[in-house]
Amino acid sequence: MERLDKLLASTGRWSRSQVKELVRQGRVRVDGRVAARPEEKCAPEQELTVDGEPVCLQKFVYIMMNKPDGWLSATEDKRQQTVLDLLDKPLQRRGLFPVGRLDKDTTGLLLLTDDGELAHRLLAPKSHVDKVYLARVDGCVNEDDVKAFQEGMVLEDGLECLPAGLEPLEDGSRCLVTLREGKFHQVKRMLAARGKPVLALRRLSMGPLQLDRSLPEGGWRPLTEGELQALREAVPAKV
Ligand code: URA
Repeated sequence: MERLDKLLASTGRWSRSQVKELVRQGRVRVDGRVAARPEEKCAPEQELTVDGEPVCLQKFVYIMMNKPDGWLSATEDKRQQTVLDLLDKPLQRRGLFPVGRLDKDTTGLLLLTDDGELAHRLLAPKSHVDKVYLARVDGCVNEDDVKAFQEGMVLEDGLECLPAGLEPLEDGSRCLVTLREGKFHQVKRMLAARGKPVLALRRLSMGPLQLDRSLPEGGWRPLTEGELQALREAVPAKV
């Protein structure tokens, strides 16, 4: 048995305080009966509805976050804030983790889940999931840089990069970078190797998953059914 507010908040659809408000307004039912208190105990197999809509207590949770600058993509850290600290407590306790890391100063699309198998499939190099980044650089990228990215660069430190996409925007001080892999600081290292150090970096998409532009920095929401389906279809079942 678990508290009703914890169970509902663990879906990622409502915060604990939102659940309290929903219960107060009589919008939550347990097995057809209006829930009296957010603290009341119920079993996960009982039928829960909010506004008459059944609430599915899924096995796994999938959260899209617009990662803010200054937060670590990690599950815990002794000194610094991690992206998990941005979530409500019941979600934090589910054991979610970021699927791939963004640097502390990189913003944008971050997927958090407790589904280790899907995460593994998304990160496996063989899955070839394209990640698109918007970079602002010191200088302007040009056609030579585009060609170098296309051909696959070998950096001075020996890092071998697969062919990657580079699309200059406006005057070239901003560009879109598309990578099929995710090596440490890869976008920054590739652009620095071309003499165009990155000033700001934001991830816009990961495979079919696009950053929801209505999410403020630090905001998050569960994936829609459609987004989850598209992600599953983008990666083979066995890698
Ligand atoms: N490449 C980088 O350099 N940093 C990131 O955070 C992601 C990709």
